[in-house]
Amino acid sequence: MSRSRPTPNPQSDNGSGAPDTILVPRERFAASRVLVVGDVMLDRYWFGDVNRISPEAPVPVVHVQRQEDRLGGAANVARNAAALGAHAGLLCVVGSDEPGERIVELLGDSGVHAYLERDPALATTIKLRVLSRQQQLLRVDFENTPAHEVLLAGLARFDALLPSYGVVLMSDYAKGGLTHVTQMISKARAAGRAVLVDPKGDDWARYRGATVITPNRAELREVVGTWKSDDDLLARVTKLRDELRFDALLLTRSEEGMTLFTDDGVRHEPAVAREVYDVSGAGDTVIATLAVALGAGLPLAHGVALANCAAGIVVGKLGTATVDYDELFH
Ligand SMILES: Nc1ncnc2c1ncn2[C@@H]1O[C@H](COP(=O)(O)OP(=O)(O)OP(=O)(O)O)[C@@H](O)[C@H]1O
Ligand SMILES: [Mg+2]
Repeated sequence: MSRSRPTPNPQSDNGSGAPDTILVPRERFAASRVLVVGDVMLDRYWFGDVNRISPEAPVPVVHVQRQEDRLGGAANVARNAAALGAHAGLLCVVGSDEPGERIVELLGDSGVHAYLERDPALATTIKLRVLSRQQQLLRVDFENTPAHEVLLAGLARFDALLPSYGVVLMSDYAKGGLTHVTQMISKARAAGRAVLVDPKGDDWARYRGATVITPNRAELREVVGTWKSDDDLLARVTKLRDELRFDALLLTRSEEGMTLFTDDGVRHEPAVAREVYDVSGAGDTVIATLAVALGAGLPLAHGVALANCAAGIVVGKLGTATVDYDELFH
């Protein structure tokens, strides 16, 4: 069914004739093989007390008492795919440093199959937040761009991995890990694989030929400009999809849910969250769930309905930013 205007879906209609949350057997998710490629990062939190101002400068002194680390970027996407019970592979570059080791350790705990290229000259991307009494005082970022040779080694590894994965997912955080994304997409499509892309930046020509691209509102606006109505949005997205040969574009719209644009028309999924605590990382859950669903052989519309359900669950969670199989099909 095609709709040109966001309207709430009847509960049991996902456009493919199947109910939105129709049970997908666990074994089908387990048989789904998703290769995530992209920029990994570590989200680190330091918690402590502030009891004085520094004698060196007019700044608070934090006495750090606790550290928490979470996987970020492409690593969080892969962790989400693994949490759903799929086989999740992750191809990325890390440095030979402590944050890189920590990412390896957390990926192991999450059941992700990591294929890491090591770049000794790279500072593994880490975002360090210093917090006191629930208040963020400072964020410190470390990052640089992986070396040319390391990225070429990654491209060769991609070729070797492709035959054993059903779906490819590009998680772009503009840190340089996806320098060869155009080549990877054409190789994957030539091999008959679906390719999903979470884009970054204003040059989407590099994602040419992707199966599905999943921007949020700000990311899409950066590329097609500001739309004035749903019809205007449809016209802009159609032009973009034609030019860059995207089979589908899934626009995630935060509290407005998500809209899927394909040759079959437009389908809107209203947001289903009952409680909203923490929306960061919801986009990662969306693309991971969609990739797992496509890898399990489900039609796109059914995958989008499941991704929307998963997003509705994950925004209601504090801390853990994943949804597992049982939560999705409760
Ligand atoms: N405030 C909200 N209320 C209800 N649902 C939400 C809200 N924010 C996000 N969602 C759900 O999560 C999905 C993805 O969110 P959003 O569009 O913000 O992605 P995003 O900006 O890529 O997120 P991020 O980059 O932080 O991971 C939405 O399509 C919706 O289903
Ligand atoms: Mg996002």
